[in-house]
Amino acid sequence: MEILELTGKIHDESRQGEAFLPVQTTGESYQKRFYIESYGCAMNFADSEVIASILNTEGFGATRNLEEADLLFLNTCSIRDKAEQTVRKRLTEFRSLKKKKPGLLIGMLGCMAERLKDKLLEEEKLVDIIVGPDAYRSLPDLIAEAETGQKAVNVLLSRDETYADISPIRLDSNGVCAFVSIMRGCNNMCSFCVVPFTRGRERSRDANSIVLEAESLFHGGYREVTLLGQNVDSYYWVDEQTNETITFAMLLEKVARISPLLRVRFSTSHPKDITDEVLFTMARYDNICKYIHLPVQSGSNRILQLMNRTYTREWYIAKIDRIRELLPMAGISTDMITGFCTETDQDHKDSYSLMEYCKYDLAYMYYYSERPGTLAERRYTDDIPEEVKKSRLQEIIALHRIHSLESMQRDVNKTFTVLIEGNSKKSDTDWHGRTDHNKVVIFPKENYPLNKGDYVQVHIHSCTAGTLLGVINN
Ligand code: SAM
Ligand code: SF4
Ligand code: F3S
Repeated sequence: MEILELTGKIHDESRQGEAFLPVQTTGESYQKRFYIESYGCAMNFADSEVIASILNTEGFGATRNLEEADLLFLNTCSIRDKAEQTVRKRLTEFRSLKKKKPGLLIGMLGCMAERLKDKLLEEEKLVDIIVGPDAYRSLPDLIAEAETGQKAVNVLLSRDETYADISPIRLDSNGVCAFVSIMRGCNNMCSFCVVPFTRGRERSRDANSIVLEAESLFHGGYREVTLLGQNVDSYYWVDEQTNETITFAMLLEKVARISPLLRVRFSTSHPKDITDEVLFTMARYDNICKYIHLPVQSGSNRILQLMNRTYTREWYIAKIDRIRELLPMAGISTDMITGFCTETDQDHKDSYSLMEYCKYDLAYMYYYSERPGTLAERRYTDDIPEEVKKSRLQEIIALHRIHSLESMQRDVNKTFTVLIEGNSKKSDTDWHGRTDHNKVVIFPKENYPLNKGDYVQVHIHSCTAGTLLGVINN
């Protein structure tokens, strides 16, 4: 089997819901080639790497050249209406390619495939293959079926599929940072959220396979892994051989012990589930990055209850206080939604004041987008006018800008250990890397004999709204 050469970069917009990632590979000896674009969260990007592995084992080669592909795949996201519209727009762009190349097959994968199922075949006549997130192993069979001219669909959700035995092919990787899925699905049923319907029940992946994957990444030169799950704190695995129950804190520790040179990150934590045990483990290991993404969604207790988030504003604030007490240097980020059903001006003020309290280093902010089939769609009216949702969003974005700039400015005149991830986008004479609290740092290479994947001390002399600028501190 030919070895794929994979180069390039992961777009770091993975949490925005609409990012995409073309595959870059080279190699000429494949009979059929596939092209895959990923939208949505990091879990979808990680899934595309599993899909690439499944297809590669069956003799399909990846390409990033649309014209050269025999199979076009969109790994899709349904989190907000805009994410689905982006995919539909992309599909119309594919139409002209299909006209030029009649044998070309188009496959819709991921959450939108799961949500719409074979309804998609009526709506999007172009699509030949529809595969949900738990059915990727059947992709080679579905391709064979589609090649006979039939439409091929598999959207069965599973209670135990974790793809634990599949070694993902890293797509467009920088060779330094990689995602490792540790669980799938979600049991939380937040009322606004489509994920429990598109990804099914929560299940944890065999801890041994996670550690093996992280070890093999480390030996392959990677220096950072991000452990992925919709709710990592509810990770739970019983080792049948040792009868040991492994919690998320224990898993974090196992991965951190692979090497002090391997940075460990994780996402996403749920405020109701993150434990002191996780925070203590983070404090104990220098290589577990001091950065926590703790989505709040709203600062109003009434709205939090309607959202079924199962914590209060006070509970959330107590978690933030605890993180700052145990991990004073930690970066903290959040997700916030404006204009959820029945949100009043006072509810919005509560979200605003919570943000003033937390002063997040980073925040992903959205206005509410009603999703068909969710609890909120069935129980409540989407009654906040779009212009109100958007103007509230603008207000919290403006507030967050102040906090994020203050957060950057606090780091000026300090020195940080930076993991070099590659050249700066703007200049080959500068490096681009990140601190362990997840800030991007750009600094001149000068004449130091450094490579990507190396750690270096960088003294920060200034900043922009999103980047720290520094010099190597020797
Ligand atoms: N599991 C994570 C959690 O509990 O926060 C992330 C879930 S989702 C992939 C990422 C973010 O999208 C959510 O935290 C939420 O802020 C946002 N989101 C989810 N559904 C939404 C909707 N219907 N409208 C607007 N934003 C939404
Ligand atoms: Fe969606 Fe809530 Fe699950 Fe996150 S925890 S994926 S917001 S249902
Ligand atoms: Fe989107 Fe599915 Fe992720 S809906 S955010 S790709 S879990």
